Amino acid sequence: MSSPDLQLARRTERLKSSLVRDILAAAARPGMISFAGGLPAADLMPQLPLEATAAPALYQYGTSEGEPAFRTAVAHWIGETGLQVTPDQVLALAGSQQGLDFAAKLLIDEGTPLLCEGPTYVAALQVFQLFGADIVCAPLGAEGPDLVALEHLLATKRPRAAYLIPCFQNPGGACYSAAARVAVAELFDRYNVILIEDEPYRSVALDVDHPMTPICSLLKRAPWIYLGSFSKILWPGWRMGFLAAHPALMPHLVRLKQAADLHTQRPGQAAVAHWLNSDTRGRDLERLRAGYRVRRDAMQAALERHFGAIADWQMPRGGLFFWLKLRGELQATRAMLDRALEQGVAFMPGEAFFAQPAEGHQYLRLNYSRATPEEMESGLATLARCIRTAQDLQSRPQPA
Ligand SMILES: Cc1ncc(COP(=O)(O)O)c(C=O)c1O
Repeated sequence: MSSPDLQLARRTERLKSSLVRDILAAAARPGMISFAGGLPAADLMPQLPLEATAAPALYQYGTSEGEPAFRTAVAHWIGETGLQVTPDQVLALAGSQQGLDFAAKLLIDEGTPLLCEGPTYVAALQVFQLFGADIVCAPLGAEGPDLVALEHLLATKRPRAAYLIPCFQNPGGACYSAAARVAVAELFDRYNVILIEDEPYRSVALDVDHPMTPICSLLKRAPWIYLGSFSKILWPGWRMGFLAAHPALMPHLVRLKQAADLHTQRPGQAAVAHWLNSDTRGRDLERLRAGYRVRRDAMQAALERHFGAIADWQMPRGGLFFWLKLRGELQATRAMLDRALEQGVAFMPGEAFFAQPAEGHQYLRLNYSRATPEEMESGLATLARCIRTAQDLQSRPQPA
């Protein structure tokens, strides 16, 4: 069939396929060991309070802002982090990804400078680039951004907004120190940068000994949008997330919600509100974290065995990923993906997480929440072999 002559919006030229979703499709093949996605562990997910979703009234249209019970429960939940918001400042979302879409629509015109961490979340890059952001990246260490580089970027590039993932960053695993949070807030206030703070992994804190105060709560002047998700703690298929925002931004965000999908599904809001108000929540999260600790430690041990000589990394203190930097000069990790998939192992190459993909050549992201210890052992052995083979091929003298 010949393809029709499509007249599409100019921005579609910037609409890239998400590498994550492509790899996830390959990773779903039978027998594949996948370290690629960010899927939570099914056996550790809490029991869903389905009884809360049964009232027929929940199947009628609802309000764009969200159910009052959901907004109230989420406002309390956010309050526990140290960010005090009223229910009026909460908007129910179809996953926090929807909040990224709204933030992009609200803040980005073609060429708008936007500050991100380098590396950053791949699907955030996808939507920011679709709307034409001119992305500048602040280099990120284990405890937050390089503050000198950050201030230089703020002063020279004058970004309208910044997108940060301060708790167990995806993909790098960074968790901002208390001091970094204060310093970043001061800089954003000084340069009046709107903060988009994204926190899907806050509740997957495995061993952190400092307060993880949201940076939004430390701002005195700069407006902010705070994003949260239930995907990693209460099943992602529900597509339940939320945002809270500075009062000046809320009316715009509510209109974007109306224009996007009228409102978030009501049974899911009822289930989440029920879980948030229940006394099982604390136990559910403790069980989840305990299970993840075991898996994280198993992955660390398997990585030491198979990657100790070829890569460097820091053990994540939360979140769902290891972020490895391969030693030595190497072909891009993206180029190794096909061979690894052929051998039955999926991973995420580092290129996907940078606005300038070449900056990610030496990196790979590995999820630890899904594989069994046996799969970790054999999958990482296979992956390390693929990398060694690539290194051997590369170091062999080329025929003259
Ligand atoms: C940093 C980050 N933000 C947002 C999301 C999207 O989460 P949700 O399932 O709530 O849309 C993810 C999912 O992996 C993520 O890692």
